[in-house]
Amino acid sequence: MQFEENFSIANVRIKAMQKPHALSRRQFLSGLGVTAAALGLSTLTACTEEKKHNAISLAHGNDKELFPIYQDGKYVAKDFTALTKIPNLGLSPENISAHLALYTAYVDKVNKAEAMMAKNEVDDFSMKNLAFSLNGMALHDVYFANMTTEATKQSTALKAAIDKTFGSFDNYYANLVDTAMLVKGWSITALNLLNGKLFNYAQDTHSSNYPAYVMPILVLDVYDHAWLDQFGSGDEAKREYISVFGKIINWDLVSRRLDAVTKLYS
Ligand SMILES: [Fe+2]
Repeated sequence: MQFEENFSIANVRIKAMQKPHALSRRQFLSGLGVTAAALGLSTLTACTEEKKHNAISLAHGNDKELFPIYQDGKYVAKDFTALTKIPNLGLSPENISAHLALYTAYVDKVNKAEAMMAKNEVDDFSMKNLAFSLNGMALHDVYFANMTTEATKQSTALKAAIDKTFGSFDNYYANLVDTAMLVKGWSITALNLLNGKLFNYAQDTHSSNYPAYVMPILVLDVYDHAWLDQFGSGDEAKREYISVFGKIINWDLVSRRLDAVTKLYS
């Protein structure tokens, strides 16, 4: 936990809409255009100034399942405490709670850092937390939101995207796990907008090995606080934790998130 506090994928600042299915394709793409602009991807989306304004006007209604919430000029922490009450989740309430405390702190810190930077208050806190805390918030958001004990399945598009890079799901998943075993922070399945392919990105902290032009769809937290207290120390314990995590992935949501970020590439 100390390690995580001292450090922070993708600088994902999604301005998604609350009910994208109810919006026109133009409105939806406009919303993603703001995200792309924030990531320096405006040339990829060819988003006009008019469309950006439309997107900003929609920013108060995020898709709360897929993306962090940004409304009234700041990020808002989601309530993931229900995860601590699912008896067969496989991850203890204490484990989940350890992340939640960090997550809410990151939301506060990135709000503060953005406010400071907007006023050109450049110091160690604003510089570090603009990326570190934003990523700490965004990555935990995907990690928690993707947990379910319900039966889910991968979409045809997700299967195709996995096969495109890895040849098979088994190869993909082995790569996700192997990557997780090598790092102290995150193993992240993300869409590379430069080539439209999925890869698993390794990060020792929220903001190390920062990959530009990638959008996360599945996030595996392997910080010590995610598994050490419940599963014990060592590689065998870490693999046991990852095995438990693998059984509660909400593939429906991962598939929907891929659909959303694919619109940035297409
Ligand atoms: Fe965490």
